Amino acid sequence: MTRLGIYAGTFDPLTLGHLDVVERASRIFDELIVAVAASRSKQTWFSLDERVAIVQKSIENIDNARAESFGGLLVDYADSQGVKLIVRGLRAISDFEVEFQMALTNRKLNPRIETVFLMPKEEYSYLTSSSIREIAEMGGDYSKFVPAASRHALEMKVRSRKGG
Ligand code: COA
Repeated sequence: MTRLGIYAGTFDPLTLGHLDVVERASRIFDELIVAVAASRSKQTWFSLDERVAIVQKSIENIDNARAESFGGLLVDYADSQGVKLIVRGLRAISDFEVEFQMALTNRKLNPRIETVFLMPKEEYSYLTSSSIREIAEMGGDYSKFVPAASRHALEMKVRSRKGG
């Protein structure tokens, strides 16, 4: 039986912390879908297609992982793909409450789907996509926090936001 997993996020853009979770999950699952959320609640810098392209490029060396986009509920998307396990990264105690709530809500929505947690490398535990966007916007060096595809996309986005 093929063990399928799904790792979802907004990935605006993908960071090395996200990539660390993808790498860990890819060693546990036979196939991993990195699911990029359309995210109505977040005003994203990057379009859905741009975020999927960044993820796909960043995971191209991980044979059993692929990027997809989804809208609507994560559990519905997981169900439609025949996936029974959702992977979440747990970075710090501060993540716990939100993750606990999300896992239990998802379980209530679809009891056949379980959530499993992986701890990313400590050195990435403080990263968020919005802090990276802020550093980029203010001209700081974010290169050590993101894979090359995110760095290129951020460089272009900053330039276009500044009208150049
Ligand atoms: N490394 C670096 N950053 C990380 C990280 C890691 N390992 N894990 C999380 N983060 C960052 C994210 O980039 C995000 O930063 P941001 O707020 O600046 O964008 C922040 O931590 C929160 O991450 P997360 O909780 O994973 O939020 P998300 O927006 O990336 O993903 C969804 C949330 C899309 C998975 C969730 O909202 C969802 O499932 N939506 C679909 C609708 C649905 O089913 N709703 C019901 C849910 S109960």
